[in-house]
Amino acid sequence: MPLLESPAYTDADIPDYPQSTPQPLKIIHVGAGASGLIFAHKAERGLKNFELICYEKNDSIGGTWYENVYPGCACDIPAHTYTLPFEPNPEWSGYYSYSDEIQQYFLKFAKKYGVEKYVKLNTAVESATWDESESIWKVALKRKDGTTFVDSCNVLVNGSGVVNKWKWPTIEGLHDFQGVLAHSAAWDRSIDWAGKTVAVIGTGSSSIQMVPKFAETGKHVSVFMRNQTYIGPQFGSNVSNKEADPDAMEPHAAGKHQYTEKEKQRFRDDPDYHLRYRKAVERSVVSGFKMFYRGSETNIAAKKLMQDSMSQRLGDRDDLKKRFIPEWSPGCRRLTPGEGYLEALCEPNVTCVFSDIVKITPTGLVTADNVERNVDILVCATGFHIGYQPHFRVTGTGGQVMQDQKQPNVYASICVPGFPNYFVVNGPRGNWGQGCVMPSHEVHTEYIVQCCQKMQQDDVKSMVPREDVTTQLNLYMDAWHRKHSVWAEDCRSWYKDNEPNGRVWIWPGSLFHHLKFMKRPRFEHYELTYKDPSNIFAFLGNGLTITEEKFAGTEDMPIPYIRKDEDEIWDIE
Ligand SMILES: Cc1cc2nc3c(=O)[nH]c(=O)nc-3n(C[C@H](O)[C@H](O)[C@H](O)COP(=O)(O)OP(=O)(O)OC[C@H]3O[C@@H](n4cnc5c(N)ncnc54)[C@H](O)[C@@H]3O)c2cc1C
Ligand SMILES: NC(=O)c1ccc[n+]([C@@H]2O[C@H](COP(=O)([O-])OP(=O)(O)OC[C@H]3O[C@@H](n4cnc5c(N)ncnc54)[C@H](OP(=O)(O)O)[C@@H]3O)[C@@H](O)[C@H]2O)c1
Repeated sequence: MPLLESPAYTDADIPDYPQSTPQPLKIIHVGAGASGLIFAHKAERGLKNFELICYEKNDSIGGTWYENVYPGCACDIPAHTYTLPFEPNPEWSGYYSYSDEIQQYFLKFAKKYGVEKYVKLNTAVESATWDESESIWKVALKRKDGTTFVDSCNVLVNGSGVVNKWKWPTIEGLHDFQGVLAHSAAWDRSIDWAGKTVAVIGTGSSSIQMVPKFAETGKHVSVFMRNQTYIGPQFGSNVSNKEADPDAMEPHAAGKHQYTEKEKQRFRDDPDYHLRYRKAVERSVVSGFKMFYRGSETNIAAKKLMQDSMSQRLGDRDDLKKRFIPEWSPGCRRLTPGEGYLEALCEPNVTCVFSDIVKITPTGLVTADNVERNVDILVCATGFHIGYQPHFRVTGTGGQVMQDQKQPNVYASICVPGFPNYFVVNGPRGNWGQGCVMPSHEVHTEYIVQCCQKMQQDDVKSMVPREDVTTQLNLYMDAWHRKHSVWAEDCRSWYKDNEPNGRVWIWPGSLFHHLKFMKRPRFEHYELTYKDPSNIFAFLGNGLTITEEKFAGTEDMPIPYIRKDEDEIWDIE
């Protein structure tokens, strides 16, 4: 292309601000669980000239850890791993932390970094519509008092949680039950099961944590199990903390390990030691990824080890061994360490029921073998409507509605073709298969902040992932799962939206693999629309940089490119 001879731009096309001066950007984040809090913190660190509101339907921040308070509710990833990677907590009371303690950790985090100011509680997002003429999202909201209003933003971040909308099972007569009917994710703390008969439906992670608690004091517990699952070993049961306190529990205690005051003091006083310990625990969690390669040596060995270990823990209960130990590989359904679960199933006051529930009566449950069991308390540990599609209506370009898509069409678990300036934290195909979600939540929020910086600094009005790139990426992911992964095996799990032969909705690779890909956006995978498509270099501005304007005429002017050695990273604001 020849250079134009006549001037294409006038003086008015050359802005008076320094290069890449951040232009105003308004962001709405849906939810104030871990995602909302981390995003607010990262936005404050990484963005200037922005406005952020995190709309939260509940009357508190915390998300999962505010809502889930069923008996025994805890993370089943070691506490020092279920921690924000940049925000260690020497105070964890035990190897696994219970729900209330995790909620306190997030409340403390929010206070420490002052991110509560971004949160608007008791306000649910009902729908979001992309206004093409203005390139903004119009977001419809409803307050708890029933009033509604509309807000708008340039960027919409969906951090409403993958396991947030809990579901009742579809069983005839469920709501005719006259005893106490409860769901694990909406637990009423006043329920007292001591001396009562309890039925628990489900064998997912929630049920696995509750059953030992009911078995301790309940008169009788019936567990309705229509599926098998692995109860895995305790992660990190080889990591000793004896250096901090010779009286610390043996590493193989893992799940039973309560940190002594001396251990916690060492974590507090010696951040380097604490960091080493945290890394050792994390290493024990993440270094086993090879077991998720179907048919690999590690996969076969892990399968045998876990089947043998379950068999041993189930003692002489051949009935349970036959019905409950899976044929498919460990990890196909989410692997849960399940402290005390198998032991509880063998208790004399616990009955495992494998026959399907056909109906619920006012007093109990009837199974396909025509047995009726009357119970005082009916607990549904039946999981969630998985958030593979947002639970609020999202309308993108050309009036397309995200929920009308047969399946989610997501680029790298973070954004969606046809829905500009929309991001989701750890969405479909995110990091849900290995380890803890905190590192990936951190990296996702940083990714979104980088996209916001790009928009603000390069005068980009909107960005949307390319459809062709997204299709190719998803086909690659499908092929990877077909070739390698245990998740594609014949089990039912929410990783496949509960379809045994369904598409696998988790990342095709390890946590490390996920973090490496998500560490920086590949803008070549996006279509960018500039604010002024006929003057896309307007951001070059007045010929100066912010650094020069900030330090003009002072002795403090940094000279970032003159440095001690080549490895020193430098940038110019
Ligand atoms: C019982 C339980 C135990 C778990 N244990 C582990 C574990 O050990 N390790 C692990 O890695 N992960 C675990 N998880 C997954 C857990 O959800 C994540 O670790 C993490 O807490 C997710 O944070 P989030 O902010 O993305 O979502 P959430 O914590 O679900 O927060 C989403 C927030 O969005 C709000 N919201 C939803 N819809 C709307 C709307 N329309 N408008 C406004 N607000 C809305 C919700 O009220 C909620 O506060 C567990 C989940 C459960 C349920
Ligand atoms: N500590 C933790 O880390 C922890 C604890 C709890 C939850 N979580 C997270 O939340 C996710 C969901 O766990 P969850 O246990 O709440 O749910 P889940 O894993 O989806 O398990 C739901 C259970 O309910 C059963 N079920 C559903 N409908 C039924 C019906 N009509 N009749 C009989 N059984 C029925 C399911 O059976 P089928 O298997 O046959 O479908 C399954 O066993 C976990 O995978 C995890 O990511 C984590």
